[in-house]
Amino acid sequence: MNTTIKYFHESQRSGEPIVMVTAYDYTMAALAEAAGIGALLVGDSLGMVVQGKATTLPVTLDEIIYHTGMVVRGAPNSFVLADMPFMSYQASVETALQACGRVMKEALAHGVKLEGGEEITPQIKALVGIGIPVMGHIGLQPQSVHLYGGFGKRGKTQQERERLLSSARLVEEAGAFAMVLENISHSLAEEITAAVQIPTIGIGAGPACAGQIQVFHDLLGLQPDYQPRHSKRYAAIGESIITALTTYAAEVRQGQFLSK
Ligand code: KIV
Repeated sequence: MNTTIKYFHESQRSGEPIVMVTAYDYTMAALAEAAGIGALLVGDSLGMVVQGKATTLPVTLDEIIYHTGMVVRGAPNSFVLADMPFMSYQASVETALQACGRVMKEALAHGVKLEGGEEITPQIKALVGIGIPVMGHIGLQPQSVHLYGGFGKRGKTQQERERLLSSARLVEEAGAFAMVLENISHSLAEEITAAVQIPTIGIGAGPACAGQIQVFHDLLGLQPDYQPRHSKRYAAIGESIITALTTYAAEVRQGQFLSK
C-alpha cells in the first residue's frame, strides 16, 4: 500500500477507520509498513520510550530529524509525519516555518504534527500556506504536562470541554488535515468528531474517532512492566526478547553457541 495524505481524505469519505502507529527507526518503520499500517508518526514520545526520559520536553529538533530520516527510509511507501518537539514551533510563526522546513527538507517527512489549540493557529495557517500538511493535537498535550501536573484525562469540566471543542474547530479552520485527540472522554471525542469535517485520530479517546494511533512499544509489549491504560497489547515482544537473549547468553557461556 502506497499512502499519501489522500489516505486521510479517502478514509474520511468512505468511513474506513484510519490506522496509525508511532515508529522511531528504520526497522520499526519497515515492520509497520509490512503490516499495512496506514500512516506513521515519529512521535516525540521517543523521548520517553527510546531515550528513557520522564517527559517529551527534552526532545530536540535535531533528534526528531534524525529519527524521521530513519523512518522515511524504512517505510518508503508510507505517509510519515514528524512530531514537532517542544519549543520548535511555539515561539513564533517564523520559528515554526524554520523548524518544520528543516524536518521536510532534511528528513523528507511528508507532514508535521503540532500540539495546541488557538495559540498555534497562526503557525498552522502559515505552514499549510507554504504547502506543509499539519496534523493538530488537542486534549492531553504531553508538552504541557507541567501546566496540569500530570498526564491525566483532559476535558473533565464543562468549561474544559467547551474549550476543547472550540480548539478543535479553530485547528480545523486554520487548515489542519486531521487532528489527534489524546486522553479525553469518549463522549467528548464523539462530540468533537461530529463537529469537525477533518478526521480525528484518537489515543485514549474511544471508538468514535475517525481513526486510532498507538505507541509502537505499547502495542507490542516492548516494555514488559509498563502498559498505559489506553493501550492494548497484541504481543509480548519484550518478554520474547528477554527469553531469546537469556538462551543466547546461556549457550555462549556453556560453549554451545555455534557448536551445534
Ligand atoms: O508522541 C507521540 O507518540 C504522540 C502520539 C501518542 C499521538 O504524540
